[in-house]
Amino acid sequence: MTKRFAAALDGPSGAGKSTVAKAAAARLGILYVDTGAMYRAVGLAVLRRGIGEDDAAGIEQVLPEITVTLRHGPDGQRVFLSGEDVSDAIRNDRVAQYASKCSAVPAVRAFLLDAQRALARENSVIMDGRDIGTVVLPDAEVKIFLTASVEARAQRRYHELQERGQDVTLEGVRADIERRDSQDRNRPIAPLRQAGDAVLLDTSSMTLEASIDAVLRLITEKTGVGQ
Ligand code: DC
Repeated sequence: MTKRFAAALDGPSGAGKSTVAKAAAARLGILYVDTGAMYRAVGLAVLRRGIGEDDAAGIEQVLPEITVTLRHGPDGQRVFLSGEDVSDAIRNDRVAQYASKCSAVPAVRAFLLDAQRALARENSVIMDGRDIGTVVLPDAEVKIFLTASVEARAQRRYHELQERGQDVTLEGVRADIERRDSQDRNRPIAPLRQAGDAVLLDTSSMTLEASIDAVLRLITEKTGVGQ
């Protein structure tokens, strides 16, 4: 049995964290945890109740009324909001914007933290988010800050959304990414930033395969797993 380990993968929106982390976790046979989905589930709950995205007190009041849980199965991670599978309903820009706003509310972060840490206690994980290496798992064996230029991220996200049939423009996608970056970087609590001991991986001019290989190499280097 190999020792349990955690790989923290942080970075801005659209850097490809989830695609890279999912593929790397599948190759290593370990759990992939997408913490953004949990913030999105809270965002969806707030949006559905008609609470404004800047109404921190209103957002906080929603928390005792909901549960957010992750389940991992053969098809990967599913996220449940009070028992309802919302894995697909959370994948749009309006929910992303609400998630970003909700994630700046300290009570929301506290609400999700224990579940995130418990997953890493019980499993080897690749966990992706904004504050995994800095706050959630400061002792993670592997820490990677995955980033790419705004242009590269906007292009990738634009093509992804187009393929899903969403009616978007490149400029609109870029503006969304920049707004979310700024909100996530500039909030007072657990802002998006590279942990001091994280390795910076800029994928602007890397293919997806090369990014996955680079992440796997870093994990092998630090843990010996996958050798
Ligand atoms: O990764 P994502 O786009 O699904 O995340 C949605 C929002 O959730 C993101 O804009 C910021 C927030 N988030 C966070 O604050 N901390 C995390 N660990 C993950 C996401």
